[in-house]
Amino acid sequence: MLVTNFASAHPDKVEQALLTHFATGAHPMTNAQWSDLTHQVTAKVLGGPELVHLGPAQGLMLNGASDGFVLAESPEAAKAILPKREISVAAWVMLHQTAPDGGIISLAQDNGDYEKGWILGYDENNFTFAIASTGADDGNGKLTFLKSKSAIKPDRWHFVVGTYDGAKMRIFVDGKPEAESVEQSGDIQYPPKGRYVMGAYADDNELTLMDGALFEVKVYGRVMTETEIADVAAKNQGLLGYVGAATNAFNFIVKPYLQFGTRTSMTVMCETEKPAQMAVSYSQFQPLTNKVGRSDLQNISEVTISNLLPNTVYYYRVIATDAASNVLRSDVYSFQTAPNADQPWAFGILGDTQRNPEVTRKCAEGIFALRPNFMLHCGDVVDDGFAKNQWVADLFEPCSQLFAYVPVFPVIGNHEKNSHWYYDYFSMPAPEYYYTYTYGNAQFFMIDSNKDCKPGSEQYERIERDLAASKATWKFAAHHHPCFSSDEDDYGDRWKGSPLKPLKSGDTNARHLVALYEKYGVDIVFAGHIHSYERTWPIMQMAVNMNKGVRYIISGGGGGGLEQAAPQRAWFSLHVQRGHHYCFATIHDRTIQFKAYDIESRLFDTFELTKPDGR
Ligand SMILES: [Fe+2]
Ligand SMILES: [Fe+2]
Repeated sequence: MLVTNFASAHPDKVEQALLTHFATGAHPMTNAQWSDLTHQVTAKVLGGPELVHLGPAQGLMLNGASDGFVLAESPEAAKAILPKREISVAAWVMLHQTAPDGGIISLAQDNGDYEKGWILGYDENNFTFAIASTGADDGNGKLTFLKSKSAIKPDRWHFVVGTYDGAKMRIFVDGKPEAESVEQSGDIQYPPKGRYVMGAYADDNELTLMDGALFEVKVYGRVMTETEIADVAAKNQGLLGYVGAATNAFNFIVKPYLQFGTRTSMTVMCETEKPAQMAVSYSQFQPLTNKVGRSDLQNISEVTISNLLPNTVYYYRVIATDAASNVLRSDVYSFQTAPNADQPWAFGILGDTQRNPEVTRKCAEGIFALRPNFMLHCGDVVDDGFAKNQWVADLFEPCSQLFAYVPVFPVIGNHEKNSHWYYDYFSMPAPEYYYTYTYGNAQFFMIDSNKDCKPGSEQYERIERDLAASKATWKFAAHHHPCFSSDEDDYGDRWKGSPLKPLKSGDTNARHLVALYEKYGVDIVFAGHIHSYERTWPIMQMAVNMNKGVRYIISGGGGGGLEQAAPQRAWFSLHVQRGHHYCFATIHDRTIQFKAYDIESRLFDTFELTKPDGR
């Protein structure tokens, strides 16, 4: 995509249009660089500006948070393209939100009394044009700021021009002169350092990124006349009259999050305030050149991107368009596809987030800080599966950063109550309550332990069929209810020893699966439900078996009210500990390193295991 403008036959005659007219058919260079059509300027792209139709213009939408362009890293690097004295800066711009010290295009330093360079920009209400010249230099430079008389209309195209002829500065808005000054005279005084930026104001101690759209920005080494400026405005009444919602006329309820990442695909989901058509822009490099979307209007939407490369990072952004063509754009995030079997990888483990967003946020941040490939959730993702606000406020909001960058693979707990929201918000392969996936050299078996797990049950048959067929080096199972637990009261009252509640030390339904795990060599079984941490010895036929045993880990510390173990040690327990926490596992080849952290990121349990060949 790019950028024109009048490539002059005689650039040395200063009829230079240095940057830019963003036009369809232009294209990005690699490594997030764009050049203008005069090929005099190569801009570094910040964030992921996006080309969108805004009325008669195709504008580049900037999000005000990460998007912008660096035209040159220093005044020296921009020397050949910067006007020395006469200058006109003309921009078609649409602002969604204004800010103090905003910039459309600038190369300046405005640090206390030190004021050099020039800026075409805006403040909270008006457009501004500032110049520092040699004639007005007070020792460390002096900028004169012209301010437009008319106020900025948000989400409307404006044609803003600043001119300076070596004696007089003027600012024009929508073709009309609005202010002038003769304070400056002589050559423009550039700072020795500073960045030449577009869609931004930047100096040594400030960076203001524009929230809005640019259609065209031109810098001339001559003075545009009042008539010329009025003519441009007159010819573009369609632009000036365009009324449309530019950005974020509606909002996300749940920001973009990732689901079911494989070696070659990733599913992106989000929830919007209004039914909207969801699309995802993505690519390996910014700007985002690929797009995949759907045509139906949904509140909770999902888009699956396929044909991706394994173990590869992609940038992405969600664009949602409502029935009235209002457009909502997310920030730019990234995801990584799953690795091949011979590559190392890692995953976070969290359970029982329930309804404690402060703790859940700490856990999610702790896991994200360790940069997993994905997160496994052991169920009870919310406290009441039918309470929609809990999904939004207690799960997705505190996990929003983690879930935007890594997919979450959940199992369903009892607190979800088998609510439709679980199946609406998560996108897993059929039948969804049970699914299996391969990641690196491992296969995961994700089980609904609320459902029947007895031999002969539908789920049992599925699990056995999939386990029998698995060729993965590592086999991991996950379900909400634990097969083994030391908890004081959940499986019979171990504390009071009531004869009415005989000790069970684990979930009797889930316990049916132990035979399968032992038969097919499952390595680790993850569970939640007990709001605590517990790791068993390797278990085979109800005894510790260091060579062939299956390890069971309870990680139910994501937020739910804490529980504790019975006073007496259970035979299977290797490490039991009360406290909110999360876990993290890294895997390469036949080695796994496992860690458990409290919510202050302090390690409290770890083990490393290397499987012998053939096991
Ligand atoms: Fe729970
Ligand atoms: Fe539970």
